[in-house]
Amino acid sequence: MSKSQWGTTIAGLDIGTTKTCAVVATATASGLEIIGVGEAPSTGLRKGVITDLEETVRSIEAATEKAERMAGVHISHVYVGVTGEHVQSTNNRGVVAISGEDREVVRSDVKRVVDASKLINVGAERQIIHALPRQFTVDGHDGVTDPVGMSGARLEVDTHIITGGNTFITNVLKCVHRAGLEPAGLVFEPLASSAATLLAEEKHVGVVLLDIGGGTTDIAVYSGGGAIHTATIPVGGNILTNDIALGLKTSTAEAELIKRTIASAVKDDEHGRADFVVKTLDGRTTVTVTRAQLRAIVMPRLLEIFRLAKAQLAERLPREVILAEVVITGGGAHLHGIEQAASEFFGLPARVGVPTSVTGLTDAVRQPEFATAVGLVLFGPKGDGATWHNGRSATVFGKVAGWFGDLWN
Ligand SMILES: Nc1ncnc2c1ncn2[C@@H]1O[C@H](COP(=O)(O)OP(=O)(O)OP(=O)(O)O)[C@@H](O)[C@H]1O
Ligand SMILES: [Mg+2]
Repeated sequence: MSKSQWGTTIAGLDIGTTKTCAVVATATASGLEIIGVGEAPSTGLRKGVITDLEETVRSIEAATEKAERMAGVHISHVYVGVTGEHVQSTNNRGVVAISGEDREVVRSDVKRVVDASKLINVGAERQIIHALPRQFTVDGHDGVTDPVGMSGARLEVDTHIITGGNTFITNVLKCVHRAGLEPAGLVFEPLASSAATLLAEEKHVGVVLLDIGGGTTDIAVYSGGGAIHTATIPVGGNILTNDIALGLKTSTAEAELIKRTIASAVKDDEHGRADFVVKTLDGRTTVTVTRAQLRAIVMPRLLEIFRLAKAQLAERLPREVILAEVVITGGGAHLHGIEQAASEFFGLPARVGVPTSVTGLTDAVRQPEFATAVGLVLFGPKGDGATWHNGRSATVFGKVAGWFGDLWN
């Protein structure tokens, strides 16, 4: 990275179902340094999708202000996370002739072939958010990661294409604009979470990431270095809280506390107390609950989330794909014993993923619930030209994003 690029700031905005998180980073000699983080409660979303514009705008403003104050910079452009069941993914292939006189692949050929892979019918209601190259093939030789400079006549690419529903995306962008910000690009959230938590080697060997948020569980599968499947399921950690509240006839706040301090995902766990006292809804009486009773509420729901994720993998992954690990992130990854439960369920080693690959306020963000927000500043600039969608794509920031893209590749 050249000295002239140091000090450029870049921001990410994760509008979640439970919290909005803004992250500001600056480019330094050793990579990205986080200089500001702001968090605010979010109540304007359900299952990852905006249901209350005003509440969401307020939440964005509050989170952004905090991050700006901490960083001491003004945030104007943000990479924005999107998720929800409207987001869908598929794999496609593009083919072009290598056009230059000397038949050497240049950057514009790469862009042309990726664009060719985007020629799929997504319907009038949807738009492409990402076309991520997985591998290139030059004159029949596959497995090429960067074809620029190679000689040949025919260039092919396999891409992972992610599309989203226009109306859902428009609502996200509307909130961002109303909060006084310019969207620099949209990023499907599991890609951001993966950028912050997964190692290049894991992506190569085969890994599945589960970002268990409040209202959604985002899934990303990598093999051979690239994303081969991404999806989201409309259930997250909040459903465990709801079940505890219903099962123990207590308030949501009390249930959330029980989940965070006593609940465990491990069968014969000695975690927490053998039994505990719970205030009933009216607050006037208490009941004693055993660890086994709590587990009987929590475990079926957790396993249901795992089952839905596994069904996705069984349905969408080619048979030859081998997975070597499960990485769990998002706030739901805090559940006691979740690594062991995931490992037993999927029959694979499991670990909790926290943001790495950044410096600066690392203690503040080294928690699974910040994976998406941190990942937005890592992935956003090098995204595949994930653009925003009111027809004005050639912004000054677009150019900044361009060189940032070169920087991190
Ligand atoms: N210690 C803990 N134990 C269990 N669950 C926890 C703990 N801490 C947080 N959670 C859960 O994590 C979830 C919130 O995670 P996160 O902040 O990643 O969600 P979000 O990004 O706001 O939502 P989404 O990604 O679904 O839109 C909540 O369900 C919360 O109860
Ligand atoms: Mg989230």
